[in-house]
Amino acid sequence: MTTQTLQQTQSATLTYDGKSVTLPLVRGTEDEVAADIEKLRAQTGMITLDPGYGNTGACKSAITFIDGEKGILRYRGYPIEELAEKSNFLEVSWLLLHGELPTRAQLAEFTNEVTRHTLLHENFRRFFDALPKDAHPMPVCAAAVAALATFYQEPDSDSKLQETVVRLIAKMPTLAAYSYKHSIGQPFIYPRNGLDYSTNFLNMMFATPCDEYQVDPLLARALDLLLILHADHEQNCSTSTVRMVGSSQANLFASISAGISALWGPLHGGANQQVIEMLERIEAEGGDVQKFVDRAKDKKDNSRLMGFGHRVYKNYDPRAAVLKKSCTDVLSRLGIKSRQLEIAVKLEEIALRDDYFVSHKLYPNVDFYSGIIYKALGIPINMFTVMFAIGRMPGWIAQWLEMRSDPANRIGRPRQIYTGATKRGYVAIDQRGR
Ligand code: CMC
Repeated sequence: MTTQTLQQTQSATLTYDGKSVTLPLVRGTEDEVAADIEKLRAQTGMITLDPGYGNTGACKSAITFIDGEKGILRYRGYPIEELAEKSNFLEVSWLLLHGELPTRAQLAEFTNEVTRHTLLHENFRRFFDALPKDAHPMPVCAAAVAALATFYQEPDSDSKLQETVVRLIAKMPTLAAYSYKHSIGQPFIYPRNGLDYSTNFLNMMFATPCDEYQVDPLLARALDLLLILHADHEQNCSTSTVRMVGSSQANLFASISAGISALWGPLHGGANQQVIEMLERIEAEGGDVQKFVDRAKDKKDNSRLMGFGHRVYKNYDPRAAVLKKSCTDVLSRLGIKSRQLEIAVKLEEIALRDDYFVSHKLYPNVDFYSGIIYKALGIPINMFTVMFAIGRMPGWIAQWLEMRSDPANRIGRPRQIYTGATKRGYVAIDQRGR
C-alpha cells in the first residue's frame, strides 16, 4: 500500500489483483493516521484480517489519548500525572463524562447527586442471599450491575439516562462492598452521606455494627488516586466490550455488566490479583527473583511476568510510575515494611536490564504496583479487580455515551475469513462408520 500526499487531501492506495483502490486517510488531533476501509469490501470484495484488533480503529473518540511509544496518557487533553496530583475521582469522572473540568457549582451538584444515590434497594439483599458465600466478587458485581436494570426500567430513556449514569457511579462501591461483606458473612454497612466517595467505600468495607471505624485520610486519598488512574484507557478489551454490547442498543446496565466480565480476565484487569499472587509465590519460594524472570522468558514455560507488558505501551506505563511512588508513600506512612514491594522493585530492576524484556519493550503496567497498595489498604486479593471496575466506571460510561451519540455508529459486527469445510452432502448416521 502506498501513501500519497496530495495538496489538500490525503489518501492511501491499495493495489490488489491488478486493481487499485483509493482509501481516504483520517487524521486525529494528535496526528495519528488511519486508512478508512469502510468501502473496501464494496469496491474489491476483500476484507482486512487483524486478530486482536492491534491495527484496527473501531471508532473516533475525543475522550482519552495514549501515545504508547512515549508513555503518554491524557484524559480530555489533561496529562494523567496532573490529574493524579491535583484532582479527585468525582471531578475526573465529570471531566470524562462531559469533556471539560466542572465549575465549582457543577462539581458540588454532581458530588451531591452521587452521594444521594449510593443506597441499594432493600430487596437487593435477596440478590446477595441467593449467591454462594465463596463466590468471586467479580461475577457477583457483573450480575448485580445487570440486575440493576430490573430495578430501574427503561434506563436509557431521555429522562432517565442522566440518572442511570449517576446511579452506576454511586452504587458500584456499595455493590462491591456488599459482595465482600456477603463473602465474609458480616452484615452490610449502609453508605454514609457525610463521607466522601473513597472514604465511604472504605467505611462500607471495614466498619462493622460493633465498632467505630475511622478511615485514615491518607488511605482514602491513596484509593482516590488509584480510581483516577483507572478511570479510562481508551479502546481496551472491556471498553470495546461495553461499546460492542451497547451498539446493539442494549441498555447501559447490560453494557457495563458485560464490560465487568471482560475486565475479569487475567490478561486484563485480573492481572492485579495475579501480580500479588506471583509476588507471594516468589516470596514463598525463597525470593529468587532471577529464577522467576528466567521462567517468564522461557517459551516452554507458561508463566509470564504479570503486571508487565501492554498492547499499547512500548514504554513505561505512566500510571505505574505514579503508583510506584504512591506505594512507597503509603507503606512508609503506615510503617509497613513490605517484602513484596522489595521483590517487585527487584523484579522491575532485573527485567528492565534484561535483553528479552528490553527487546520486547515490556515495562511495568498499572497492575504491577496497584496490588501492593490495595493490600496495604486492607483490600482482600479477590477484590482487586473489583477496585479496577469501580475506577473504570466513568470511562466505560463516557465511551458508551459517545458511541450512542455518534451518528456514524452502527451495530458492531466484524467479518471473518472462513476456514472450515466447503460444501458437502449430509451423510446418514448408519453410513458414518463406528
Ligand atoms: N512476560 C513475558 N513475556 C511477555 C509478557 C510478559 N508479561 N508480555 C508479553 N510477552 C511477550 C510474549 O511472549 C510475546 O513474545 P514473542 O513475540 O517472543 O512470542 C511478546 O511479548 C508479545 O506478547 P503478546 O501477548 O503478543 O502481546 P499482546 O499485546 O497481545 O499482550 C498483554 C499484551 C498485556 C496481554 C501481555 O503483555 C501480558 O500478558 N502481560 C501480562 C498480563 C498483564 O499484566 N496484563 C495487564 C495489562 S495492563 C491493565 C489493563 O489495561 O488491562
